[in-house]
Amino acid sequence: MAGTPARTMAFQRQLCRATTTTSTPLTTAFPKPSLAPLQFRRHIQQDIAITRTGKPIIRISGGRSSLGGHTATVFGATGFLGRYIVNRLARAGCTVVVPFRDEYAKRHLKVSGDLGRVVFIEYDLRNTTSIEESVRHSDIVYNLVGRDYETKNFDFDSVHVEGTRRIAEAVAKYDVDRFVQVSSHSANPQSPSKFYRTKYQGEQVAKEIFPETTVVRPAPMFGFEDRLLHRLANATNLLSCNNMQERFWPVHCIDVGAALEQIGLDDTTVGQTYELHGPKEYNMMQLKEMVDREILKTRRHINVPKAIMAPMTELLDKVLWWPVGSRDEVEREYLDQVIDKNAKTFKDLDMEPADIANFTFKYLVRSPARRSAMVWSLGLISFCSNITAARRTTICRP
Ligand SMILES: NC(=O)c1ccc[n+]([C@@H]2O[C@H](COP(=O)([O-])OP(=O)(O)OC[C@H]3O[C@@H](n4cnc5c(N)ncnc54)[C@H](OP(=O)(O)O)[C@@H]3O)[C@@H](O)[C@H]2O)c1
Repeated sequence: MAGTPARTMAFQRQLCRATTTTSTPLTTAFPKPSLAPLQFRRHIQQDIAITRTGKPIIRISGGRSSLGGHTATVFGATGFLGRYIVNRLARAGCTVVVPFRDEYAKRHLKVSGDLGRVVFIEYDLRNTTSIEESVRHSDIVYNLVGRDYETKNFDFDSVHVEGTRRIAEAVAKYDVDRFVQVSSHSANPQSPSKFYRTKYQGEQVAKEIFPETTVVRPAPMFGFEDRLLHRLANATNLLSCNNMQERFWPVHCIDVGAALEQIGLDDTTVGQTYELHGPKEYNMMQLKEMVDREILKTRRHINVPKAIMAPMTELLDKVLWWPVGSRDEVEREYLDQVIDKNAKTFKDLDMEPADIANFTFKYLVRSPARRSAMVWSLGLISFCSNITAARRTTICRP
């Protein structure tokens, strides 16, 4: 019964064709009825898109084994958000070019697409040739490269501004159809945080070099590999500033991935800025309480004044070789998320973002903190039941 309307429409289309082409015999104008729904379905699954530079692209909604589709380069694909956009593009049959630095950091992306659909190219953000090599065959380029902290080799300027400049220049040189620059919420040239300032400068540099750049500013993201819920669930996250009062609109990484895909494929988004944030504003303390409920533990937090915390993290950051926070991260704990009212949002993409409150269980159910709490409570229950059983046998003994 489900195929009936399709069959009727295909039949009507054939009827029209039969009436316009009079020379066609009626028997050949009507194909076998069993094939008509198939033909109709094939018709709606294929579309030819003409890109900005006039390149025809066959868009197919047939899944990861489809032939055709776009070629997209995703810089910064080895990070948290990267897998959600690579996965979406590759499973729609697009060819995804993944520039990478570390052999092990990119392994999980290989299975996102069919054989040969995810192509890896080793690159360096300071090596222009390797960047050009990564973009020259693509018609969409996403730049997700970013770092929350500065390192010995790369400060915020070299990653967010100089890195963006090199990528945008390569995009302009090969006249790539679309360039999507992933910036950050609260990107502002006057911000006290260097991270937000350089993110804003990166946006400006990209727009200067390639005016068709689409800028995307995601809010703090949550998901399986996030640095929000899992950090709050971690016992080592002991010290904080500002009494955890910074306010923001957490957004689901899957929503951001879907929005990035849509932005890349829709030419009306050219030159626009998107603020992608969740539906509800929270402060960090509210999230901490939600996390504590899920992991069945109460994480202690010691509030340290900024005057002590900022120099302390700066010193530790210089001495230790693993990320322990930085002066700029302390600064960001005092800044609420600012949303540009002129920017577009999920609403303009016809999308409804998800609320973090509906996902805390999903993302924390397998966290080590919750598992250890469960093991302790199960151990306690079995210990108590053993004692009760032992007492019962002692009482019943004649
Ligand atoms: N996560 C959030 O809540 C959030 C919020 C707002 C904005 N954003 C922005 O969204 C983007 C993606 O976020 P994310 O959470 O996926 O970030 P992420 O997990 O930290 O990943 C960052 C990516 O950038 C690459 N990268 C960093 N420094 C690099 C350098 N010097 N040279 C080459 N590649 C470098 C990393 O490559 P390696 O794997 O080789 O290190 C990684 O692929 C970033 O620009 C971030 O600033 C994120």
